[in-house]
Formats: sequence, C-alpha cells, structure tokens
Amino acid sequence: MTSAPSSTAGAGAEMPALAEAVARRRNFAIISHPDAGKTTLTEKLLLYGGAIQQAGAVKAKGEQRKVTSDWMELEKQRGISITSTVLQFDYAGSTINLLDTPGHQDFSEDTYRTLAAADNAVMLEDAAKGLEPQTRKLFEVCRMRRIPIFTFINKMDRPGREPLELLDEIEQELGLACWPVNWPIGSGDRFRGVIDRRSREVVLFQRAERGRQSQEQILSVEAAADSGLVEPELLESALEELELLEGAGADLDLEQVHAGELSPVFFGSAMTNFGVRPFLDAFLELAQRPTARSSSEGPVDPLRPGFSGFVFKLQANMDPRHRDRVAFVRVCSGKFEKDMTVQHARSGRSIRLSRPQKLFGQDREVVEDAYPGDVIGLNNPGMFAIGDTLYVGPKVEYEGIPCFSPEIFAWLRNPNPSAFKSFRKGVNELREEGAVQVLYDTDPSKRDPILAAVGQLQLEVVQYRLENEYGVKTRLEPMEFSVARWVSGGWPALERVGRIFNCRTVRDSWDRPVLLFRNDWNLNQLREDHPELELSAVAPVVSGVEPIAL
Ligand code: G4P
Repeated sequence: MTSAPSSTAGAGAEMPALAEAVARRRNFAIISHPDAGKTTLTEKLLLYGGAIQQAGAVKAKGEQRKVTSDWMELEKQRGISITSTVLQFDYAGSTINLLDTPGHQDFSEDTYRTLAAADNAVMLEDAAKGLEPQTRKLFEVCRMRRIPIFTFINKMDRPGREPLELLDEIEQELGLACWPVNWPIGSGDRFRGVIDRRSREVVLFQRAERGRQSQEQILSVEAAADSGLVEPELLESALEELELLEGAGADLDLEQVHAGELSPVFFGSAMTNFGVRPFLDAFLELAQRPTARSSSEGPVDPLRPGFSGFVFKLQANMDPRHRDRVAFVRVCSGKFEKDMTVQHARSGRSIRLSRPQKLFGQDREVVEDAYPGDVIGLNNPGMFAIGDTLYVGPKVEYEGIPCFSPEIFAWLRNPNPSAFKSFRKGVNELREEGAVQVLYDTDPSKRDPILAAVGQLQLEVVQYRLENEYGVKTRLEPMEFSVARWVSGGWPALERVGRIFNCRTVRDSWDRPVLLFRNDWNLNQLREDHPELELSAVAPVVSGVEPIAL
C-alpha cells in the first residue's frame, strides 16, 4: 500500500503507477456451452499463474475441492456451478482477471451481468460440436457490448469436425470473421499438433494417458517433417490449408479484434494442457486492456485519476458462517485503496470502504489496492444494487446493466402468514441481488410476487435459499407464460391501445407495465393488431429510482 492520501483524486506521482497497472491488466470471461471444457481450461490457465499447485483443484471431486466456485450447498448437491467468482493471477508480467461465469444454462442471466464487467471474452467450443445454444446466446451479449472475442476450439485430441467447417460456421452463423492464430495438424486419433501461423513453428502434441499433460515440443516445419513424429501427408495438408487462409488475404487487424469484429482462433486440448500456453501468450499480446467505459459524463478513461467502478453482481450468504452479503465491483478508473471514502452515485451518500476483499474461489483476502480491470468484493449492508456506480472526484455514473428477458413465471406463495416478515426480506434481498426478477399483479390487493426467471433451476434456487437463509418454506405455482415484453411507452402507451387479448399485464419492480404471453404466436398477434405499440424483450435500464419492495 502506498502512503498517498486515499481519497484525493489524482496525486500526480500516482499516474505512472496507474498507467503501468492498466497496461499490464487483462480481464476476460469464458463463454461456452456446458461440457465444452470451461472448468478444465480455467484450471489449466490458473496453473500458468501458479495460482493452484495441482491440476484438478478447480473441479476436483469430493475432498479435493479447493478453488471451486461451487460453494453453495445446492451446488454441491447438484454438482453444478451456479455462481460466478473472479480469479486473479499473474503471468509473464501481466495481471489477469478471469471472471468465472456459471456453467449451467439456467443461470445465463448471471453470466450476462458478468459480461458487463469483462473487457474480453474467450469463446470455447468443443471441436466435435461446434456452436451450441448457450454459446450463441452469450455471443449475442458480447456482440451487443462489442466485446473482443477469442475462440478456443477444444478437445482436438478427440475426433472432431473439420477445422475449416468450424470456422465457416462461426463466420456464417455469428457473422464473426475468424483469424486462426494456429492451425491443427490432423485431428482426433491423428492429431499431431498445431502450426503457429505467424512464427511458422510447429508445436507437437504428444499423446499422454488420460489426465496426463502433453509435453510441449516446438520445432521448425522442416525439423517437424524430419522428426518422424508427424505423417508427411498430415503436415502437408495443414500447410496447404494455411496457404489457403493466407490466400484469403485478411490481416490480423487489432482494431477489428478490439471492435469484436474479428476473432483470433486457437486450436488445442485443455484436458491434456495442449495449446493452452500458446493461447495465453497470444491472448496477452492481442487482448484489449481496460478501456474507456460509457457513463453519464461520456467515456471515462481508466487513467482518470479518481477511482470509479460499478456493481455488477451481488451475492448474499457466500459464507454461511457469516451470513454476509458481497457486492462485486468492477474497477473502471483510478486506483482503489482500502479505507477509501467514495460517493455512491444513486443515493448521493459517502461511504468508507473499510474491508474490501479479493475473492479467489472460496478464499478471500483483504485488498489493499486495486486497479482498472480488477474486481473487488465489498460487504454490502443492503446499500448497493446492481448497476450502482461508486466514484471519487467529479461525479460519474456508468450505464446500467440490463435485465434479460425471463421465460419462466410462477406465483410465489407464502403459506404461513406469520413468516411474512422473513418472506418479504428474502424476496427483496434476492431480487436486489438479481437472483430472480420480481413482478406484481396490477391489482394491489394481490400481494404475492410473481417470480420471473430465465431457467427453472433459478426458481428452485430462490425457493431453496428462502428456506435455508430466511427460514421460509414457500410454494411455487407455475404460470403458463413463456414470453415477457416491456412496453416502451409505459402505462400511457398501453392505455392508448385499449383492451388487448391473449396476454396478461403485470408490473415490474419499477411499476412499469410488462406483458406476459403464452407463446410467440400470441406476441406476434398483438404486434399485428397494434403495430404502434413498442415492445422490448429487455427491461429498460433504470437509474436513480428505487424499486418497489414487497
Ligand atoms: P464445462 O466446465 O465446460 O462444463 O466442462 P468441463 O471442463 O467440466 O469438461 C467437460 C468434460 O470434457 C470433462 O469430462 C472433461 O474432462 C472433458 N474435457 C475437457 N477438455 C477436454 C479435452 O481437451 N479433451 C478431451 N478429450 N476431453 C476434455 P468428464 O468425463 O465429464 O469429467 P472428468 O471425469 O474428466 O472430470
């Protein structure tokens, strides 16, 4: 920790340190479909940072669990990873923040929010499966935010689809141009390694027993041909394909990469740790460092001397022994220091941040300082909401984080009136945390909340947590809707169209009208009948207004 005064904006001597810290930081999230190998890749990446000693620590079975983010009882029971954590490690002179996202598809809403804090995304594909549904969904969020995307085609040690076909799929279906940084030699049983496109070196893959690491051997193309380790026809065909790619003419244009229009592509096998180091090295070279972010005052440069950041995730009861609540803040500008007094943009209040934490899976340590691109955990005594800005110096307020369109709806009933206080507390806190969206009937006498979620498991988690953390047993009554649309013009716009059919009108937590439909067909019918009614699948971002509490 430096001795600079903590809450002054911009002591001149700090600037070079800030610039240096920003220059060395790279932050990213992995987007993938369950089973593509995200946990395996994460674990291998952490090995390079010396963050964990032993492969298997991220997702080890039984007693070995150490760095696992599966901290919640339900997660343990189900063997799934629900919540996101942040892993920071140093490698080759860089400080890397890996924003871990939940793997289960029901939790994509949480993943969406994590992507709001990410500067880069790694799109992980299974070479045998190519693009899968959750990857496509998450890709759309990256595209919306113009996040640079690095593609890692995994499981090359197993029979997979043709590399050219996989790239074609990405280009055609996602409209994302690809620039392979390395190119595979053979595949499946005959996978022999990759050729680095820029250095023309061959990285040889040596098959090891399942679970063992592949030894990395780097040779020139000529030496590889002479080595007897690669069949000449496989090497030749890989070189021919590389020629074809060169012939297509595109350059590795960093501006395009950083605009999210061109994806550097890597081939490898996370399980055998093949191609992970070359990927990490190239990623550090090509990835976007923390950049300016949009705010009410225009773009805010990370080198703005005063600290600023926003809350992208809230989590209650991470450690059941302490029943605490943590707000995850992405640092966007300036240097953050322990004990700093910051402004809370929404309420206008000053807050002293005395026990900021760095989270590493289940472990925590108190943070002395943090820089743009880092994530810190703040104890949250109910003060912070998702999207809130904290700052020092002149006021800034970052753009909010949109909620995503729910697809599952259910009344949440509390059969025991004497537990109403705990029920209300639980529902309000879980909504605030973003565990679920909460809607209400337009008739104020019907007080029971309607839970709206992206996936069924999300509702189960809410019920489970209400019981375990707030002591209330609840009942879910499913509603037969699958589509929600926000009315852009609010209540006046809805009143202007008069009576509408085959949909139910409810209010969201900000008293805005939301229409629920059984299916797309009913939605389209309304669109045809009332083309003037502007509808949005995503809840408009609110700032400065307190939500309705139950
Ligand atoms: P996820 O987090 O994306 O859901 O995937 P995870 O890493 O858990 O990997 C899913 C399965 O794919 C695991 O097998 C894992 O070992 C395997 N896998 C990951 N990378 C590779 C790879 O490069 N090559 C091959 N052949 N397999 C890979 P599992 O049988 O489900 O679990 P485990 O018994 O191996 O732990």
